[in-house]
Amino acid sequence: MPMFHLGWFTNFSNPPWNHPWAGTEGRDWPRGDAHVEFTRALERACFDYVMLEDSSMVSDAYEGSMRADLKHGLYAPKHDPVVLAPLLAAATERIGIVATASTSFYPPWLLARRFATLDHISHGRIGWNVVTSSEDRAAQNHGMDALPAHDERYERADEFVDVVGRLWDSWEPDALVLDRERGVYVDHEKVHVLDHRGKHFATRGPLNLTRPPQGRPVLCQAGGSPRGRDFAARNADTVLAMLSDPDEMKEYRDDVRARMVAIGRNPDDCKIMFITTPVLGDTEEEARAKAEVVRTPTETKIEVSLAHMSAVSEVDFAAFDLDTPIADLDVRTNGHQSSLASFLRNGSTVREAAIASMNKVLHFVGTPESVAEQMGETMEHVGGDGFLFTGNIGRRFVGGITEGLVPALQRRGLTRTAYTHERFRDNLLDF
Ligand SMILES: Cc1cc2nc3c(=O)[nH]c(=O)nc-3n(C[C@H](O)[C@H](O)[C@H](O)COP(=O)(O)O)c2cc1C
Repeated sequence: MPMFHLGWFTNFSNPPWNHPWAGTEGRDWPRGDAHVEFTRALERACFDYVMLEDSSMVSDAYEGSMRADLKHGLYAPKHDPVVLAPLLAAATERIGIVATASTSFYPPWLLARRFATLDHISHGRIGWNVVTSSEDRAAQNHGMDALPAHDERYERADEFVDVVGRLWDSWEPDALVLDRERGVYVDHEKVHVLDHRGKHFATRGPLNLTRPPQGRPVLCQAGGSPRGRDFAARNADTVLAMLSDPDEMKEYRDDVRARMVAIGRNPDDCKIMFITTPVLGDTEEEARAKAEVVRTPTETKIEVSLAHMSAVSEVDFAAFDLDTPIADLDVRTNGHQSSLASFLRNGSTVREAAIASMNKVLHFVGTPESVAEQMGETMEHVGGDGFLFTGNIGRRFVGGITEGLVPALQRRGLTRTAYTHERFRDNLLDF
């Protein structure tokens, strides 16, 4: 069994603040220290990357009110991950740092410049999570009444990624000549104007800085609809997927790989990472008891689950009685289509769907040794690439993974014990 990759899916937002092991992070996280400490712990465990998701709204999709979003700290408060990235880069040496930025809100030239700068100052360790955004509430913060339609957003994103890539290429790798004798710093013949005038974007170029160390930062994507999978197959170096069972994971990975082959890409050039939250204990019994507590639905957990789904679909799930049969719902979204579809498949009533989606990423329960074993078996079944942990970035939970589970994975030869390369993509494509 070849090794697999590890990442962590989080954001620049509040760690859980009111559970028994929360410490002071609920108040202190806006300073960034907690995220720095967290990322250092991941680097000690040789993770490929930390992925920082983002959105730009306070959601009032649930009950038509900001109450649930703010009460539970779901979509806000949230800081800009692009601004956190240099702090994380300065505090680490090898781990990849992926920041989310939206093709619906950034102008391409600005994004290309910003991520090229980040790639330089991180010495080639930056990734961009390409999102099209999903909420009209976010669009309204950027001068629009509503987002473009779902498939049109992906069409715009295709053009956006193409233009940004050409901006990164607008300086040839050897444009910076530093020729003392001739007194030439940059060879102007190696810097090229684009004059791009496309359907959605226009930019003249060139960029005003040298080519990023990785050529282009690592591109990350998470969109499960057929259109989203095509986009990933064309553009992504790594894809995030949230699926509950190993057969679905295998089907998803095989599908994205087949789409890559169909357009002439080597499928090994994109790593598909499955989101998971292990439940760890000192003994099997302790872990099972913990998982039981996590899985037990409460009113708060159901509200949080529904408010999440409302935020990304902009369907008001508070409007339905919890016992409403899913079959009676006629709901559609211009937002996360695959997330809504999978939510609706999860149970026969609104309550069941909310509970199932809350437990969706609890694949592995046990001691570090037994969870390492289970993760290896799942990867074997799926065919590869890796896992992206998610959940509580408080010190206690993170320590359980980095100081307990990862060493157990390493002892089995399942994950790396040292970085081979300096740059993010090179480490990602190493196996
Ligand atoms: C695990 C995961 C993480 C995501 N992270 C973000 C994010 O940070 N910001 C964002 O706007 N959308 C995010 N999305 C949404 C996707 O980028 C995509 O827009 C959404 O899944 C809808 O695509 P689809 O209709 O193709 O499934 C995420 C989706 C998933 C499944």
